[in-house]
Amino acid sequence: MEFSVKSGNPEKQRTACVVVGIFEPRRLSQSAEQIDKASDSYLSNIIRRGDIEGKLGQSLLLHNVPGTLCDRVLLVGCGRERELSPQKYNRIITTATKALNEGGTMEAVFYLTDINIKGQESEWKVSQLILAVEDVLYRFDVMKSEKDEFRRPLRKIIISIPSRRELAECEDAVKSALAIANGMTIAKDLGNLPGNVCTPTYMAEQASDIAQQHETLTTTILEESDMLELGMGALLSVSRGSREPAKLIVMEYKGGQDDEKPVVLVGKGLTFDAGGISIKPSAAMDEMKYDMCGGASVIGVMQACAELNIPLNVTGVVPSSENLPDGEANKPGDIVTSMSGLTIEILNTDAEGRLILCDALTYSERFDPAVVIDIATLTGACVVALGHHAQAILSNHSPLTHELLNAGKHINDKGWELPLWDEYQSQLDSNFADMANIGGRDGGSITAACFLSRYTKKFKWAHLDIAGTAWKSGKEKGSTGRPVPMLMQFLLNRVN
Ligand code: BES
Ligand code: MN
Ligand code: ZN
Repeated sequence: MEFSVKSGNPEKQRTACVVVGIFEPRRLSQSAEQIDKASDSYLSNIIRRGDIEGKLGQSLLLHNVPGTLCDRVLLVGCGRERELSPQKYNRIITTATKALNEGGTMEAVFYLTDINIKGQESEWKVSQLILAVEDVLYRFDVMKSEKDEFRRPLRKIIISIPSRRELAECEDAVKSALAIANGMTIAKDLGNLPGNVCTPTYMAEQASDIAQQHETLTTTILEESDMLELGMGALLSVSRGSREPAKLIVMEYKGGQDDEKPVVLVGKGLTFDAGGISIKPSAAMDEMKYDMCGGASVIGVMQACAELNIPLNVTGVVPSSENLPDGEANKPGDIVTSMSGLTIEILNTDAEGRLILCDALTYSERFDPAVVIDIATLTGACVVALGHHAQAILSNHSPLTHELLNAGKHINDKGWELPLWDEYQSQLDSNFADMANIGGRDGGSITAACFLSRYTKKFKWAHLDIAGTAWKSGKEKGSTGRPVPMLMQFLLNRVN
């Protein structure tokens, strides 16, 4: 989609469609008011007749509105003005975009930046608008022989902003939102691809292809032989049960000073998690193709950083493997030695994410990181605790937690903190090794993070459990691209 910003009166736009808001109950927004004046009360007459109440989710397309230069005016319900929120703003944009795309309008000027969202400036509305449009128009149909194509799809959106003074900031917001949306698309595509296509080798190839397109980005792939030399016994124990070779993908983006410490992002890239010998129940097991979404979000962020030329150093590390039952797979009771030297008793082979992550975290020490953030679809318990709205944040450095919480809140990709208290650590005690890989049912997301915390003592670290946010199930099954927005906002905030 092509986006641009400008300012001007709605009735003077020569375009296929002008989009304005209507509040509940039957009240005109500022730009709707302007059109109403120019059209000799055409809008207020329609509204008085009761054709649109202004409820969230409603829209009404009008043709040839007198006094305007556009072909159509789309009225979009915005709900009650006093109850507006970032989530509702998203819903308003989504409703408008669907109506336009399905209605055959190829170009539109959006006046929805004139509605007030508490504490948010035009810049924010521009960015949220772009992210919402790109999200609702996203399709994954590369594997369908017939694609549902619209005859006249929406191609161009012009975002009107109230004042010229904000033009420069809003143009920057267009650039960064588009880069974030592209990063999300990369993450979504990788997530939606099936496990037989998106293998560790495929992920490594994609990461290399992306690096080829940017001078500031390099990708290095570590093979199993390299991992063996490094002593990554935990990671390799997971991939031993699979015929697909594991890969450790390392992406380095250099946008900052040479001597500046990088932000290191470590993403779980489990391309299919059957559970191993502790095999999962078969219901919805297909969704375990999404177990690489942490890794995919890291690849998406790396691309977005390069696209935006952000003045920071960022390193992405993606351990990628499958987890399958096999004669050579891990068995419950097996003890493996991780790269750090710590030994792990594998009491459940389905707790494999932490096994591949712990070696990737130890490996991250060599980058002398400013901070390390790992991103993983790590525990079903996280979905029980937080549902699908927030990712869990657990960290050994509370300022880092707050940076992530704030970034997520700003861009509407929210996180919520869970405690990483010492009290939980003893649940990982093992009679036979330095630790067990599971800590029992209680506080499952916390004990998983406790496990990782034993490998992150040398740096400031946060863990994002995205098990509930990385994809949607049911009729709308599909990857969400989260938490690319949170991570990008986090990085952008670090620049300023
Ligand atoms: N990838 C799963 C976590 C998961 C499960 C995410 C369901 C989203 C939905 C992870 O590897 C796993 O299997 N975790 C186990 C850990 C348990 C054995 C301690 C879990 O959550 O059941
Ligand atoms: Mn598992
Ligand atoms: Zn898993």
